[in-house]
Amino acid sequence: MFNAIGRVCCLALLPMAGLAEAGQGAELARAQGIAYPAVIAHRGASYDAPESTAPAYLLARELGADYLELDLQRSSDGILVAVHDDNLLRTSDVAERFPERQSSPVSAFTLAELKSLDVGSWFNKAYPERARASFKGLQIQTLDEVMDIAAANPQRQPGLYIETKVPGLFPGIEADLGKGLQARGWLDQPGRVVLQSFDRNSLALLHQQMPQVPKILLLWIGKGSIEPAAQQTFAESGESDKAAFYARQQPKDKAEFERWLDYAKAAGAIGTGPSAALAEGGAQSYADLVQPWMNQLSHDKGLLVHVYTVDEAVDFRKVMAAGVDGIFTNRSGQLLRYFARPSAHSEAQILRAHGY
Ligand code: G3P
Ligand code: CA
Repeated sequence: MFNAIGRVCCLALLPMAGLAEAGQGAELARAQGIAYPAVIAHRGASYDAPESTAPAYLLARELGADYLELDLQRSSDGILVAVHDDNLLRTSDVAERFPERQSSPVSAFTLAELKSLDVGSWFNKAYPERARASFKGLQIQTLDEVMDIAAANPQRQPGLYIETKVPGLFPGIEADLGKGLQARGWLDQPGRVVLQSFDRNSLALLHQQMPQVPKILLLWIGKGSIEPAAQQTFAESGESDKAAFYARQQPKDKAEFERWLDYAKAAGAIGTGPSAALAEGGAQSYADLVQPWMNQLSHDKGLLVHVYTVDEAVDFRKVMAAGVDGIFTNRSGQLLRYFARPSAHSEAQILRAHGY
């Protein structure tokens, strides 16, 4: 249902090395109503606009992303919001607005307090080359507002790809999410929503609440996920670059990797969301959990593979050749161009046209 034309066109462009697996992955995706290969806008089009804000989400929609990704948390008065970090320090002016609570979790703030924060200005300071005056004063988005953005253009109807973030801090958030999606009719269309978590317990709770909705178990190497082959910590490794440290990490053995695929299935998942090691390293680069044998094993178990978080063509090429079925990206425009599904308008044109 999502971008059917794009799916057909992209399949033909996949590298030969990926073709055998593409058949399996494409079929698994089709059965779930999920786009193949899926373009998942990580916190919106968050390279070009502040993450998880209205312009980031509307830009991803207009570019043609298949899904808008968001990290779900809950205000102290019970409203579901899209925020990634455990606290608000990195992406807002909480230190100036609420100095005594600056390190407090999102759950320590009412929605009105969260809405009073400026979650755009940090981006202008961090990325002056992509800064826009209109980003100043942007607000945190509620789940309802992200749904509104996703549904606002009848010609462009991305789904939502929702992660329960630090779910241990938000008892009952899985039920709240189920009610929120149901109330807006978002569960009526197969594949319109995908649910994801690193937390197996949260995934199982999501499955209890919404058994019919596709779910993804996120994977990495570390505490609470796949056990590494070497127990050495980053500090003990003597490595100065975290990405280089992560890139050397491997699962303890094949059985350990397979165990996590089985956990995914047991929790009701239809796929996994593994990390990637990126060519240029950087803060998004982790262990390479999308090696061809891993993707083949996942497909053989009937699981889709959606890799996070990949922004460059060199890495798009590598992970697609390895057999993944979708990509979380901050740069939806770049990935759509790579998949020969370019938008008619540039990122800057779209932002300007919407008043940013
Ligand atoms: O949800 C997939 C990916 O977003 C996981 O990483 O930390 O960006 O939520 P994170
Ligand atoms: Ca996420």
